[in-house]
Amino acid sequence: MIKIGSDINIAANFLLQNKLVAIPTETVYGLAANALNDEAVLSVFKAKQRPFFDPLIIHLPSIEQIYNYAFLTDNRLIKLANTFWPGPLTLLLPKKNNIPNIVTSGLNLVAVRVPNHPLTLKLLSLVNFPLAAPSANPFGYVSPTSAQHVSNQLKDKVDYILDGGACQIGIESTIVGIENNTVCIYRLGGLTIEEIENCIGKVEIRINNSSNPKVPGQLKSHYAPKKPLFLGDLNELIKINSDKKIGILCFGNEDYKSQKALIYNLSKTKNLNEAALNLFKFLRLADDAKIDILICEFLPNIGLGMAINDRLKRASH
Ligand code: TXA
Ligand code: MG
Repeated sequence: MIKIGSDINIAANFLLQNKLVAIPTETVYGLAANALNDEAVLSVFKAKQRPFFDPLIIHLPSIEQIYNYAFLTDNRLIKLANTFWPGPLTLLLPKKNNIPNIVTSGLNLVAVRVPNHPLTLKLLSLVNFPLAAPSANPFGYVSPTSAQHVSNQLKDKVDYILDGGACQIGIESTIVGIENNTVCIYRLGGLTIEEIENCIGKVEIRINNSSNPKVPGQLKSHYAPKKPLFLGDLNELIKINSDKKIGILCFGNEDYKSQKALIYNLSKTKNLNEAALNLFKFLRLADDAKIDILICEFLPNIGLGMAINDRLKRASH
């Protein structure tokens, strides 16, 4: 039986015993374990059925703590860290020896972030180790944005779910690193390119779309709902699929009611923040609904729209 609650002392006790605790963050819920303990980290991979070649992000309560586990030396990355932590930014940094190889899948870089959630920040200060935490979903499925999502899917695989309410951003963190002295974005996420470039100038986007990624974590099958999802012009897709029961994931305009379709409007007022909050929730609802397929349109490719479009592409057929 799993317990859901908001008691950070219970959560800390489980973590100290190398057990698994789901933690709230501003992006999505994470499945956390003591990053310094091989057994604990191993059970994260097992609970998620995640392949060992896909490394984990470690979470810490402050930028000062990062220096104990990684080398943060580049001035641009330091500026990003100072500006956006706690927040939806993950940095890929050269790791120190105290981070076990299982966390980084044997890579020399470790992904680190300071999440912006009051309960989790308190919990991180309470335990004296970093928490390795991937999103708290079975591997390849949509990330959870509420404690209930975690409980629905991981059931008895998690020892405690720290309930911090609905996530405030709803989409995973933006992953940033350095290659040949160029700042690169490896995953579009809750921190927008515009915000990053306003802070440190031009960056390069290196999102790998192949199913055999060079940078782990860019697997195409990520974020896949169970219902087939098709992306394109909605009117066109409605015509082609007139024989099916469809769900329509739209943005703003929702004049599709005559089609007897289920409408999931990401944001009636075309607000990208609201769309990010609704995206994973709606994909889950659609999976449980009596529809054959889900059809969906691209959002404006600016701000959070870029990260949302990336998730839609990965989720689609
Ligand atoms: O918002 C988030 O980042 C959430 C919350 C819980 O913090 N976490 C999250 O973790 O999305 P996960 O494991 O679902 O995605 C982390 C991504 C993976 O795609 C992984 O491949 C990549 O980060 N990653 C982690 N460590 C890496 C490393 N050393 N080198 C390259 N990629 C790395
Ligand atoms: Mg994930």
